[in-house]
Amino acid sequence: MIAAQLKELLLQSLEHEKGGVLIYRTALECAVNDELREEWAEYLEQTENHVEVLTSLCKALGLDPGERTPGCQVVQHVGKSFVQAMKMALAAGNPVAAELVACECVVLAETKDHADWELIGACADAHEGETAVALRAAYDEIEDEEDEHLYHTKGWCRELWLKSLGISATLPPPEEKRDVKTAVEADQAKKSEKPRRRNRARKRPRPDRARK
Ligand SMILES: [Fe+2]
Ligand SMILES: [Fe+2]
Repeated sequence: MIAAQLKELLLQSLEHEKGGVLIYRTALECAVNDELREEWAEYLEQTENHVEVLTSLCKALGLDPGERTPGCQVVQHVGKSFVQAMKMALAAGNPVAAELVACECVVLAETKDHADWELIGACADAHEGETAVALRAAYDEIEDEEDEHLYHTKGWCRELWLKSLGISATLPPPEEKRDVKTAVEADQAKKSEKPRRRNRARKRPRPDRARK
């Protein structure tokens, strides 16, 4: 018998991955940038696999993957809200704005996804025996992909927002180019673009100093 809160974590994680599949399908409808669409198509495939991995993990630990706790229902509600938000943005008829909404929804959804897998890794460390082995195997298979989903999409979100603001943007984002896998690497990639952006802004003549 595994502890009640570990069961809750695994069932919520599974529910969240299922919601993630729907989120990526809708986000793909919103993507304007071809490279972003390619990226999200890959993440969709990976998320479909995460559903499979978590379903198998639940079964291996004696859980019913079809059980939906009140916590799972909340997770499902939040996931549906992201889908609804993207559909609202699409219906408004501004593709650039809808793409930004999709980026934000993916970042928010991937924040929980990433946190879920971090906790699954912590549970693998804290347990022993067959439970630890099963948790560790799933974590080792998925964790790198979750880093990429979160950090790379955060980069896309920031740079596409900058572009929409008329500020020099780097596309694909530096997180993508450097293929960052950790929060530290993502921070370094983000900071690497700041001086370049500042220099470009300095070279631009200020409107009040422009020749008439
Ligand atoms: Fe995932
Ligand atoms: Fe993910």
